[in-house]
Amino acid sequence: MVALAEIEASSLGVRQIRKSFPVPDDPLLHRLVLDGISFSLAAGELVSLIGPSGCGKSTLLRLIAGLESPDSGELLIGSEKITQPGAERGLVFQDPNLFPWLTVRHNIQAGLVARGVLRETHHEVGDFMRLVGLESFADAYPHHLSGGMAQRVALARALINHPKVLLLDEPLGALDAFTRMRMQDEVLRLWQARRTTMLLVTHDIDEAIYMSDRIMIMSPRPGRIERTISVALDRPRQRSSPDFLRLRGDILEFVHFAGNASIENKD
Ligand SMILES: Nc1ncnc2c1ncn2[C@@H]1O[C@H](COP(=O)(O)OP(=O)(O)OP(=O)(O)O)[C@@H](O)[C@H]1O
Ligand SMILES: [Mg+2]
Repeated sequence: MVALAEIEASSLGVRQIRKSFPVPDDPLLHRLVLDGISFSLAAGELVSLIGPSGCGKSTLLRLIAGLESPDSGELLIGSEKITQPGAERGLVFQDPNLFPWLTVRHNIQAGLVARGVLRETHHEVGDFMRLVGLESFADAYPHHLSGGMAQRVALARALINHPKVLLLDEPLGALDAFTRMRMQDEVLRLWQARRTTMLLVTHDIDEAIYMSDRIMIMSPRPGRIERTISVALDRPRQRSSPDFLRLRGDILEFVHFAGNASIENKD
């Protein structure tokens, strides 16, 4: 059994978070974006967050990353309060945001260079390139890579800092359906290998069911957690199993996309 210290994960606590932004055409007015968000992730849990566009999912991830501060409420990594960005929280976006002038190897080690720890940790760069299956592309530049490969570089670049919590903001959103399904397995493999706590924002209900221990559904803005669903299906999950499809149907119904709304509107 893996000792807890090797798991490298940490719990995440989100307590009564409220966040508003100035309205662009009237900066004296503030618009509430997050309205009292509370939840916890246990160390090593993989939880998805779904909700309509604009409900505040990215804002919530940016708050946890320490890139913004809440109007009120508290954010905790383990028992530590989050007040600023830190290497123990990794963030991966939809766009891999690689440095185009750096090779795969140099992109992956960029964070180590910035933190001044490359000398002690450079031996890990090869390990992480292997982990994401890119060791033979070490000297390639981003324009040589497919979308899926570039996203794997972005994942390795985040993981090499040994984050205790990995925040994923639609990391597979720009990929085609087949690459996306393959990458879901890659992320699950990385999660199973490292047991990093993961919070995954996705628009894809199938992806949320396929990947996560729990799914949190947010309301339209101002965002609140409307419902949390545990996914009690064995892994690896079968995308077309009756239990999978039943859960999919329940979630679609809850978010009003089950496809039977037009009948009620007929007059
Ligand atoms: N820096 C900012 N200044 C002003 N308004 C902001 C800022 N960042 C986000 N917002 C507003 O907050 C709301 C939530 O934005 P956010 O990007 O968190 O939504 P989202 O749920 O991630 O949407 P999507 O699914 O489209 O990515 C939006 O109305 C957005 O315009
Ligand atoms: Mg977003």
